[in-house]
Amino acid sequence: MSLSSSQTVPSPTGMPLSSSVSPKVVIGMIGLGTVGSGVFKIFRDQPEIFFQKIAVKDASKTRTIDDLDLDLLSQDPHAVVSDPETQVIVELMGGAELAKDLVVAAIQNGKHVVTANKELIAKHGPELFELARQHNVRILFEGAVAGGIPIIMPLKLSLGANRIEEIAGILNGTTNYILTKMTQEGWSFEQALQEAQAKGFAEADPTNDVEGFDVGYKISVLSLIAFKQVVDPLAIHREGITHITAEDIENARELGYVIKLIGLAKMTDDGRLDIRVHPMLIPNHHPLSNVQNEFNAIFVKGDAVGDVMFYGRGAGEMPTASAVAADILAIATGLLKGNEPIPSMIIDPAIPAKLQPVGETVNKYYLRLNTKDKPKVIGHLGNACGDAGVSLESVMQKGINPDGTASIVLLTQAVREDQMNQALSAIREQESTSDIGCLLRVL
Ligand SMILES: NC(=O)c1ccc[n+]([C@@H]2O[C@H](COP(=O)([O-])OP(=O)(O)OC[C@H]3O[C@@H](n4cnc5c(N)ncnc54)[C@H](OP(=O)(O)O)[C@@H]3O)[C@@H](O)[C@H]2O)c1
Repeated sequence: MSLSSSQTVPSPTGMPLSSSVSPKVVIGMIGLGTVGSGVFKIFRDQPEIFFQKIAVKDASKTRTIDDLDLDLLSQDPHAVVSDPETQVIVELMGGAELAKDLVVAAIQNGKHVVTANKELIAKHGPELFELARQHNVRILFEGAVAGGIPIIMPLKLSLGANRIEEIAGILNGTTNYILTKMTQEGWSFEQALQEAQAKGFAEADPTNDVEGFDVGYKISVLSLIAFKQVVDPLAIHREGITHITAEDIENARELGYVIKLIGLAKMTDDGRLDIRVHPMLIPNHHPLSNVQNEFNAIFVKGDAVGDVMFYGRGAGEMPTASAVAADILAIATGLLKGNEPIPSMIIDPAIPAKLQPVGETVNKYYLRLNTKDKPKVIGHLGNACGDAGVSLESVMQKGINPDGTASIVLLTQAVREDQMNQALSAIREQESTSDIGCLLRVL
C-alpha cells in the first residue's frame, strides 16, 4: 500500500481478505469522492490491494481520509488508465462521456474495470461489454444499482436458472425518504424535500431523483441483466413524484395502500418489454410497502424461485463501497490465483428492446378529482368509466373542499391504460368536473 500511515488505521469494516490472496493487485482509481473514499478506507490496510494512483479533479481539496499521501493523487485521469503497471481501473467519477472515454481506454489497455456508474452502464453498457469481451477483461458494476444491495451478481448468477418474470424496485433513497415522511408525518412534498436536503439525502438540485431519471438508469441496467434487453434510458416512460399530495397519501392509506416510486420491468407474452418508472399504490400486504426512509428494495419474480426481495441501503459512502470493493476482490482473487476472473460474469450480448407502449399496459388505477357538489355526479363518473370499459372497484366521496367542490376518489379494476385515458378524457369534459387531481397506477 502506498500510504505511509495506513498500517496504523484499522479498516472500518475489519474485513479480512482471503488468506489465499497474497501478492498484490495494482489498482488505478478515478474519483475519491463519496464512494471512492469508502473504497479506499476498506482497502487501506490490505496490502494485496495496492493503489497506484487516484485521479481527482482538484488535488488540493480537503478529503475525509486521515493521513492521505498526496503523492497518490493525480489530476490526469488519462495517465491513470494508461499506467502499464495497473491491472484494474476503478471508475468512481460519475457522468457518461469522459467516464466512457476513460473506461474504453482502460479496456483497450487490457485492464479490468469496476464501476458504480449507472448512467455509464445504462447508456453505453452493451458497447463496453463487447469491447471487454474482445480484450478478454471484465467490467463489474455491482454498485451501479441499489448501492450496497447485491442485485447484479444475484440476478446474473444466483437466479441464472430462472426466467425472470418481473422486477419491481424502490431504487432511489431520496424519493423513498420523501414519500415515507409524507406518509408518517403528513407533510407536503415540499416540506419532505426540504428535510431530505437538510439531512443530506437530496441534492440541492433534486431533479435527477424526484423526476425519476435516476431510477430510469437503474431499471434499464437491471433489464440488461435480467432480460438481455437494451433500453435507451431516455425512452423509458417516466413520471416523478412532485405531483403527489398529502391528500393522495392519506387516501391511499384509507384504501390499504402506500405510495412508492417504482422502477418496473417485465416481458410481455409477445416478447416486448414493459418498462416504466412512476409512483404506484402498493398494497399493505406487499413486501415493498414496508421499505421505509432511504432504504431500497428490489422485488424479483422468477419462474422457478417465485418471489424474492433484496433489501438494504441503496446509497452512501460505505454501503456503495461495500459493493465496489467486492467487485475488486472478485477480480483480484481471479488474478492472484492465476485464473480468469469470474468468467460467469461476462455480460451476454443483449438485443435492442421492443418497448410495449404505455397505453397498452394493464393496471388498476387510483384517480382523485374535484367535482361540483351536486346530485348525480357519481353516476356521471360511472357512465364515463363504463363507456370506456373501465370497471370501478370503489368510489369514495372525501368531503367538500374550501372552494365548495367535492373531492372524489375512484379505484378501478385492471384495465388497459388507453381505456383509462379515454375515461379520463370523458370525465374531464363533463360539466360537473372541476379539475383532475391525480392519476396513479396500482401495483
Ligand atoms: N454516492 C452514492 O451514494 C452512490 C451510490 C451508488 C452509485 N454511485 C455512483 O458512484 C459514482 C461516484 O459517485 P460519488 O457520489 O462518489 O461522486 P462524488 O462524491 O461527486 O465524487 C466524484 C469524484 O470524481 C472526481 N472527478 C470528477 N471529475 C473528474 C475529472 N474530470 N477527473 C478526475 N476526477 C474527477 C472528483 O474529484 P474531486 O474530489 O477533486 O472533486 C471526486 O473525487 C457515480 O457514478 C455515482 O452515480 C454513487
